[in-house]
Amino acid sequence: MNNKTLAIIKPDAVNDNYIGEIISLICKAGFKIKALKMIKLSQEAAKAFYEIHKNKPFYNDLVEYMTSGPCVPIALEKENAVEDYRKLIGATDPAKAAEGTVRKLYARSVQYNAVHGSDSDENAAKEIAFFFANKELIENYPA
Ligand code: CMP
Repeated sequence: MNNKTLAIIKPDAVNDNYIGEIISLICKAGFKIKALKMIKLSQEAAKAFYEIHKNKPFYNDLVEYMTSGPCVPIALEKENAVEDYRKLIGATDPAKAAEGTVRKLYARSVQYNAVHGSDSDENAAKEIAFFFANKELIENYPA
């Protein structure tokens, strides 16, 4: 069954000019783009998005990083989307990420790790709704 996940190309990868390469890897891996935008997160939005990490020692740095420049949230669809996308991007720490994964290729460090991926179907639905209205999710293409 097809399901959805939320990808974010984070400010480091946008700044390093990797948007095109990362989207190319995502599309070549068989994901369908349902919605995509470029935005600069406010402090309030970044804090809310990463609220689950609010007690972690890296939380303030994470909010600062995610508000440091534009990012590109992308709603994706594929069979087994959450797991397959996490395989495509590799481990959180690029030093531990497998060869050929997005983070191995484009991330700078465990913090500046180029991309985000939802960790469950439930969180994917919440995270997609955080960035996109339902009517922004494109259905029924290609024709
Ligand atoms: P992400 O998958 O978006 O989820 C939480 C983010 O916090 C993570 O990517 C990193 O950007 C950051 N992060 C996770 N672990 C650490 C860490 N040990 N030190 C600094 N930042 C981290």
